[in-house]
Amino acid sequence: MNTIFSGIQPSGDLTLGNYLGALKNFIPFQDTHECYYCVVNQHAITVPQEPAQLHARTTELAAIYLAAGLDPNKATLFVQSEVPEHALLGWVMITTSYVGEMERMTQYKDKARKQGDSIPLGLMTYPPLMAADILLYQADLVPVGEDQRQHMEITRTLAERFNYRYGEVFTVPEMWAPKGGARVMSLQEPTKKMSKSDDNRTATIYLLDETDDIVRKIKRAQTDSESVIRYDKENKPGVSNLLSIHAAISGKSFAELERDYDGQGYGTLKKDVADLVVGELEPIRRRYHELVGSPELGRILDEGRDKAHAKASVTYRKAVEAMGLYR
Ligand code: TYM
Repeated sequence: MNTIFSGIQPSGDLTLGNYLGALKNFIPFQDTHECYYCVVNQHAITVPQEPAQLHARTTELAAIYLAAGLDPNKATLFVQSEVPEHALLGWVMITTSYVGEMERMTQYKDKARKQGDSIPLGLMTYPPLMAADILLYQADLVPVGEDQRQHMEITRTLAERFNYRYGEVFTVPEMWAPKGGARVMSLQEPTKKMSKSDDNRTATIYLLDETDDIVRKIKRAQTDSESVIRYDKENKPGVSNLLSIHAAISGKSFAELERDYDGQGYGTLKKDVADLVVGELEPIRRRYHELVGSPELGRILDEGRDKAHAKASVTYRKAVEAMGLYR
């Protein structure tokens, strides 16, 4: 059985982008692959976090994974910091990386710009830690949104570089991105990605938003003055974003949607998109509230940690033996 690894940072309230780009797609893989899904809290600390909030968000994110349909009998769900091999192999991957290639990462450049003069070094060494996450499980496939493409390319480069230097230790993983929903855009500035860290909460649909908020935010979404429903990312980013959200949930193609909405106004499209999003998120929100404080959640994460550790420790040992680090 092929192996899947993916992770989400507990660095803010999860968005519809995280859901359609990543989480929703994790679920079907659990029937066909050996799956490891992780709360990557050590990635979250690459920018300052308030400890109590980080602690709470870690279990909240685990509850969201389960509420979205992750079955702990099929997939392994765990917290990154509880499996020490992530940080250990992360160091190995840092020593396999070059400063120049890290400085070229667009996410690093974007995030560093927001930090002023004191740029945390962890922002730069973020990709080698992500590579370590994936390589520890010998993952074949990594389901992520489009914004992770550069990080996936560097992961492949580091795996190949390591294997070339020290012998074939790591599986070189492939990225898997969904056809619709791989890049959900801000509802207010549709040329910008929808993000957990956007200060404008009207621009973002959060996974746990109440129905009224979802409807209101979609109603207010930026469109254009042309009044034609057509997928055209360049010239009609707002309408195209609504069509992508529709497609990611309804499973329809853009051609089908353009036919369905021929002659209709933006109001109709917005109402239908809001109905689809509410229909998708409402059951998740309900299950989340049942799960979040339950003792079962702790048990699932304990078991997940043990299963993840069993696999990660084998790979880590192989890697350090190959490098001559094991006496
Ligand atoms: P993070 O926490 O920013 O996002 C989690 C997942 O959500 C996807 N995503 C989106 N997809 C579509 N539209 C959007 N607007 C949108 N915003 C976010 C991301 O692509 C991601 O799949 N580096 C990762 C976390 C990570 C990881 C890993 C992922 C650490 N180690 C190993 C995979 C494998 C990140 O920052 O995700």
